[in-house]
Amino acid sequence: MKISMTVNGEVREHDVEPRTLLVHYIRDVVGLTGTNIGCDTSSCGACTLLLNGESVKSCTMLAAQADGMDITTIEGLADGDRMHPMQEAFRENHALQCGYCTPGMVMAAVSLLKEHPDPTEREVREGLEGNLCRCTGYHNIVQAVLAAAKGSTVGAIT
Ligand code: FES
Ligand code: FES
Repeated sequence: MKISMTVNGEVREHDVEPRTLLVHYIRDVVGLTGTNIGCDTSSCGACTLLLNGESVKSCTMLAAQADGMDITTIEGLADGDRMHPMQEAFRENHALQCGYCTPGMVMAAVSLLKEHPDPTEREVREGLEGNLCRCTGYHNIVQAVLAAAKGSTVGAIT
């Protein structure tokens, strides 16, 4: 079946099998491999991207369900050479270790701050509870999100 969607500002049109998952479409057909697959069973959040501005786990839906929609992946966040403030906050706060969960964490965090521009630490922890970090770097991840919310890139909490 033919599908068409905007990915990071570019219209993409492809013929896909109806059973194709969105995450496989983005990685294997569009070729944007920053969106990771950690579990394929909607548990880990590694595949999180923005669909019409809201975070979704892209292994939980079919590419066909995103037909006509607007998608932002981790590759679409930076403005040229300038990292998105959330990416900068993750970097400044050492909020990544192996980095596998990071694209999904960053996308989920961007979506979280859209809904809660000034979250408490608890709201950040609850907002990101669908995203798992196998390196257990949660403290610094939360710190990065709080810093981004404060408009600074460094340490909002200790
Ligand atoms: S790969 Fe989608 S939630 Fe784990
Ligand atoms: S930094 Fe390794 S899984 Fe999160």
